[in-house]
Amino acid sequence: MSDGPTYGFDTLQIHAGARPDPATGARQTPIYQTTAYVFRDADHAAALFNLQEVGFIYSRLTNPTVAVLQERIATLEGGVGAVCCSSGHAAQIMALFPLMTPGCNVVASTRLYGGTVTQFSQTIKRFGWSATFVDTDDLDAVAAAIDENTRAVFCESIANPGGYVTDIRALADVADAAGIPLIVDNTSATPYLCRPFEHGASLVVHSTTKYLTGNGTVTGGAVVDSGKFDWSASDKFPSLSAPEPAYHGLKFHETFGPLAFTFHGIAIGLRDLGMTMNPQAAHYTLMGIETLSLRMQRHVENAVKVASWLEADPRVDFVTYAGLPSSPYAERAQRCYPKGAGGLFTFAVKGGYDACVKLVNGLEIFSHVANLGDARSLIIHSASTTHRQLTAEQQEAAGAGPNMVRVSIGIEDADDLIADLDQALTQACA
Ligand SMILES: Cc1ncc(COP(=O)(O)O)c(C=O)c1O
Repeated sequence: MSDGPTYGFDTLQIHAGARPDPATGARQTPIYQTTAYVFRDADHAAALFNLQEVGFIYSRLTNPTVAVLQERIATLEGGVGAVCCSSGHAAQIMALFPLMTPGCNVVASTRLYGGTVTQFSQTIKRFGWSATFVDTDDLDAVAAAIDENTRAVFCESIANPGGYVTDIRALADVADAAGIPLIVDNTSATPYLCRPFEHGASLVVHSTTKYLTGNGTVTGGAVVDSGKFDWSASDKFPSLSAPEPAYHGLKFHETFGPLAFTFHGIAIGLRDLGMTMNPQAAHYTLMGIETLSLRMQRHVENAVKVASWLEADPRVDFVTYAGLPSSPYAERAQRCYPKGAGGLFTFAVKGGYDACVKLVNGLEIFSHVANLGDARSLIIHSASTTHRQLTAEQQEAAGAGPNMVRVSIGIEDADDLIADLDQALTQACA
C-alpha cells in the first residue's frame, strides 16, 4: 500500500504491510521459507550488521513474511513498529527485556491470564526480576506499588478469563506520573475492539495465537510500540538510552528515535533470545487477520446472546460478562470498549466443581480445550486446568474459582450454541 490516504480498519486488516511480491508479482504474501539472504556485496553485509541499513540477514532476526505481519499489526494498533515472536508468552518476555535489569520489578494487574501470573510470579525471578500484583481498579494501590525499581505497569485490556475490563486511560495516567510505560496485553480485545495507544498505553503485547489468527492453527506473539515513550527522560532504561556495547556504543533511542524499542527488539531481543516467529505461522496469522473485524463483530454479537441466556437460566449462579447491563463493569465497557466487550466470559454453575466437570464433558459443539479466540466455541474449567498452578486466592482474584467455567464464544449460530449449553447443563445438574 502507498502512504496515501488514511484507510479504514477493514481495508488495513487486508492490505497493511503487504505489496505484490517484487520478484513474481504474487498477490498473496509468499511464505519466504528461507534461513538466510544473499548480501549484495561485503559493504552491504557490513552496513546491515552495523544497523546502518535495514534489510534481511538471517530469519532469526527478520523474514519478509513475518515483516508483513509486523507492519500489519503495528498499523492496526496505531503503533510505529512491531516485533513478532514465537508465542504470546515470548512476547511478554520480549516486552520486558529491554526495560528490566536484575532487581527491577513490574507492577501487574491481579486480573491476568493464569499463565501470565505464573510467568510473572515464578519464572521471571530467575532473571532477577519480580512482579507486584495489584488490583488495577485501585489506582492509589497501583501508585503505591510503584517504587524506584519499577520499570513498567502491565495489564490486560479485556482480561482473560473474563468479566473484567481495564480503564486503560486511568492506569496510563498513573504509569505516566511515575515515568514508566504501561504495557497492555490486548489479546482478548484485539485492535478492533480496543486500541490501547489511543488511551495512553506505551506498549502492547499480543498472543497472536488467539483472535488475530482466529482459527486455532499456530502459536505466535507480538510486541507493538507506540513510539511515544521517552526512553531518555530518566536513567531508568539504559538498554535504550545508554551506549550498547554489542553495537560499538550505539544508543538505540538517540539513533532510531521512536523506532528504538522495535529495533532493540530485533537487534538484541530476537538476536540473543531467539524467540522468533516462523514464516509459516506468520502466513496463517496474516490469513486470519484479513477477517478480524468481521469475526470480532460476530464473536461479540454471539457472546451477548449466549451470556444473556445463561444469566436467565436457573442452573447458573451468575455470569461475568462486561457486555451485560448487569455487569459492574457495564458502564466502563461501554465507555472504553464501545464496539463490545469481546467474546470471552465465565459463568458459575450451581453444583460447583463436579457440575463444571460434567458440563464440559457433556457439550457437543463447544470443544474442551486450553485455548480461546478460535472461530469455534471453546470451553474450559480453569480451576482444574489453566489456573491449577495458582493458589485458591489467586484463582479467585483471577475469576477462576472451582465453580466457574470459561467460554470463548465462536462465530457459529448462537441458537445452536445455546441449545448445546442447555442439554449439557441438564446433564450437569441432574
Ligand atoms: C490474554 C493472554 N495473554 C497471553 C497468553 C499467552 O499466549 P501464548 O499461548 O500464545 O503464549 C494467553 C494464552 O492463553 C492469553 O490468554
